[in-house]
Amino acid sequence: MEFKIKDVILSEDEIQKRIKELAKEISEEYKDDDPLFLPILNGSFMFASDLLRNIPYPVEVEFLKASSYLNQLKSTGKVNISNIKLDIEGRDVIIIEDILDTGRTLNYIVEFLKNQGAKSVKSVVLLDKPDGRVIDFNPDYTGFEIEDNFVVGYGTDYKQHGRNLPYIVSIEED
Ligand code: IMP
Ligand code: MG
Repeated sequence: MEFKIKDVILSEDEIQKRIKELAKEISEEYKDDDPLFLPILNGSFMFASDLLRNIPYPVEVEFLKASSYLNQLKSTGKVNISNIKLDIEGRDVIIIEDILDTGRTLNYIVEFLKNQGAKSVKSVVLLDKPDGRVIDFNPDYTGFEIEDNFVVGYGTDYKQHGRNLPYIVSIEED
């Protein structure tokens, strides 16, 4: 293990309960449309998997891999997107993201999708750190607002470790 756990800030039960509420809200809102869910890899793989399993009707799912260039564990706003051949012209896209911090990554992805001709772009984030915001960006659906500490687990990583934990922890800073 590459880090020391400080506290469990969100338990498996808390996460699962909140995800059911989010799925209910989103699925009611989109029940008459044909939305395209777009999880952002790697961080949102677990969140997306649980959220989508709680949508009670068939939907389309595609994936984007976005790597942001980090500077002292903060994104710099330079984002590299893969799967750019994705056809989203005229689609109602719902981005699924693990963490919203400075806002640079999601802002970049939303602009990218609009430029590709999406009809609408909304975002659902599991964790929001409002105190970390550098760019004015508001998610459409939020799981939890948390303090501006580095967290790991449930898809999110510290140096690529800890994504497998079914709960979310804060870690001891070096
Ligand atoms: P933003 O561009 O600063 O909003 O960065 C968001 C991205 O940074 C997320 O997609 C995460 O991958 C990563 N990130 C931000 N905070 C954390 C954290 O506490 N733990 C793990 N990854 C984080
Ligand atoms: Mg990420």
